[in-house]
Amino acid sequence: MSFPTERPRRLRRTALHRELAAEHRLHPADFVAPLFVREDATSPVPLTLLAGHQQETLNSLTDRVEALRSVGCTKVLLFGIPSRKDAEGSEAWNDNGIVQEAVRRIRQQFGHDVLIITDCCLDEYTSHGHCGILTAEGEVDNDATVVAYARAAVSQARAGADLIAPSGMMDGQVGAIREALDEHGFPGTGIMAYSAKYASCLYGPFREAADCAPQFGDRSGYQMQPANGIEALREARLDAEEGADIVMVKPALWYLDIISALARESELPVAAYLVSGECAMIHDGGERGLFSEERAMVEAHLALRRAGATILISYYAGAMCEYLAAAPQAARIPQTVH
Ligand code: PBG
Repeated sequence: MSFPTERPRRLRRTALHRELAAEHRLHPADFVAPLFVREDATSPVPLTLLAGHQQETLNSLTDRVEALRSVGCTKVLLFGIPSRKDAEGSEAWNDNGIVQEAVRRIRQQFGHDVLIITDCCLDEYTSHGHCGILTAEGEVDNDATVVAYARAAVSQARAGADLIAPSGMMDGQVGAIREALDEHGFPGTGIMAYSAKYASCLYGPFREAADCAPQFGDRSGYQMQPANGIEALREARLDAEEGADIVMVKPALWYLDIISALARESELPVAAYLVSGECAMIHDGGERGLFSEERAMVEAHLALRRAGATILISYYAGAMCEYLAAAPQAARIPQTVH
């Protein structure tokens, strides 16, 4: 009998062999935690679809940021839920709006020990739940919406946001925001562009969290269709040309090909957003005993890294950082077999 002379299994023999041979490792520095802050909440509101998460009040928000910091998670992505919504989403550019106030609170308490990213979109702010201003026919008006995004971005920058994250998939949104930030004296405020954001079924739990389900129709007139891959390169190239500092792919696990292509083609850092539906599936699979939630969590985030994402936005950010703090060599998957 003859065996191959190459023996890859030699490097798999013990945990330390595997640790030595690991091509990728996860680190708390990679993670960004999405947080929701709700203006009319007097106490935190637990989310039924996204277990373990809640809409925060301004006071509970800073407690939550402190808890994240204590496990090494120092970067947050903020979503504001205003108490007053209208057709234009005008609370988005209110300097005293909920997200602006949240930014100031976090900055006041933590200074630059926390990186603050703000979602820049209108769906949390509009009465109809669409990501932009509507025409008389009920379609999202691209150019009017982009003007509104630029106003909201300047207001968020004025409050102290480090990075603005436009998520509405309007054409020209990055360029308009960049121009407005520069014009208003915020050349140092960066843009994390949702470049390849797909019209996905996986945002379900988020729409409860951000109270932003569209009241009619869906978002396929502005978000990308899941059938397309090449188009993502075009979106990312346009965002880079318009001044994006980071490009993002969202959702993540069903779009690893897109993450991988952008990581190869783009000169900008690539972020992946493990969205609400993806995190909920991992949680529910664990609950049902289909697999260990912890192992699924680690394996999922490793996959994003392996595909080429270096920035990981995830509702598991806190749990991952906690896990990594407990097991510093935890680039490897836990060894317990479920
Ligand atoms: C839109 C926005 C959405 C998410 C982030 N920004 C929802 C949507 O496009 O419907 C979804 C994030 C998630 O599911 O975790 N402002």
